[in-house]
Amino acid sequence: MIPRYAGPPLLGLNLRFLRDPIGMFCQARRDHGDLVELDLGVAGSLYAAFHPDGVRQVLLNGRRTHRQLLRELLGKGLFTSPSGEDWVRRRRLLTPLFRAERLASMTPLLLRPLDEALDRRWRPGARIDLAAELKKITVAMMVDATFGTAPDVDRAAARAALDFLLGYVDHQLFTLLTIPRSWPTPDNRRYRADIAALRRVIGDALTARRRRPSGQPTFLDGLLDNQGDFTDEELVDEILSIFVAGTETTGTALVWALHLLSLNPEPARRLRAEVADVLGADAPTGDRLRLLTWPRAALREALRLYPPAWALRRVVDEPLQIGEHTVPAGARLIVSSYVTHRHEGVWARPEQFDPGRWLVDQQRHRFAYFPFGAGAHQCVGNTFAQLEGDLVLTRVAQRFRLDPLPARRTGTKPAIALTPVPAPTPLLLPA
Ligand code: HEM
Repeated sequence: MIPRYAGPPLLGLNLRFLRDPIGMFCQARRDHGDLVELDLGVAGSLYAAFHPDGVRQVLLNGRRTHRQLLRELLGKGLFTSPSGEDWVRRRRLLTPLFRAERLASMTPLLLRPLDEALDRRWRPGARIDLAAELKKITVAMMVDATFGTAPDVDRAAARAALDFLLGYVDHQLFTLLTIPRSWPTPDNRRYRADIAALRRVIGDALTARRRRPSGQPTFLDGLLDNQGDFTDEELVDEILSIFVAGTETTGTALVWALHLLSLNPEPARRLRAEVADVLGADAPTGDRLRLLTWPRAALREALRLYPPAWALRRVVDEPLQIGEHTVPAGARLIVSSYVTHRHEGVWARPEQFDPGRWLVDQQRHRFAYFPFGAGAHQCVGNTFAQLEGDLVLTRVAQRFRLDPLPARRTGTKPAIALTPVPAPTPLLLPA
């Protein structure tokens, strides 16, 4: 029998799940073990697998289902698509955009908005709201990566609309009671106006680029190169899907990375020393970034402790063997990177922020670490996220030390990405 974690009759664990899913997962594993049937009352059961062996089974054999709300909000891009033929077609369209050599050539495109933000708002002696800043920076990087710097695209409008959209989608997905979207509240009206504006900017930019390619390695130019039988409408959906899948996740990962570095002076010092050694004050290039190891390790470690995509859901059409148990056909399953990334059977000192663990050769279960998912749906943009991460951590380290004073306890709020609350506001000191 699979251990069952029961909640109150009818309601089951639903309220707990909505209020504190991560606390609930941790307790499920502590009290019931590595495979647990979570009782969702009248909504049935959800099976949670926490050991890497179980994660492997779920992510290699499960099917991702329809994401109705996301599809209504954003259209039918890769991120919102269920497993199946249409998903395969879309995956083939997007994969070439993230090839290594193409990404390396995007470095100047990403560096520009980053430097602009740091020059304008980051000063020694200032306290900086990391969440607000990293949101602005990752939105600006995403907009430039998509459209390039050609003056015929209204990038300011795209930035403002995307910024609003991210908050709105978060709210729709993760608030217990939301006002129906058909009601004419200010937020609902703004959503309709902003999504229409964003679709228009993307559609116009597609038309303009088709007439005259930008000559830059942008997402838009890349999509047009591979367009095949995709309609423009479908390409717009893909851009929206990348926007929402790739902005908040990367921004939040970087908030955690900088926050954790501010709390852990020794790895932060080593990161700064390596950057100074390899780059001095020079701007990073694709080639020279490859020589750096600490920025990548710091991001990996932040993604281990606070994976933005903290849980992934699947269904299985056939019975699924997990360890000594069999989960029935038709079952709904969930895996949580947050829990597995802290599994003491797999990780030494799991609670400790130690980027150095990524710099020594260690044998690890292939499914012990999956911040970008695994199997067919593994994050298509992970290399882009890592490039953004390298750039932000390197550029900040060239200029600043972050002092967390006063050290506050930071909790987590599960939303589209797992966000720190309250938002860390470190003091900037000269590097
Ligand atoms: C640190 C940053 C990021 C994290 C933690 C992350 C995490 C993930 C995870 C866990 C999945 C798998 C979802 C599933 O299995 O259902 C995923 C899928 C996806 N991600 Fe990311 N992601 C990040 C950045 C990005 C970026 C920068 C982009 C685009 C530029 C992106 C685009 C996508 C897309 C389109 C999918 C859907 C893939 C598919 O279903 O085939 N992500 N991401």
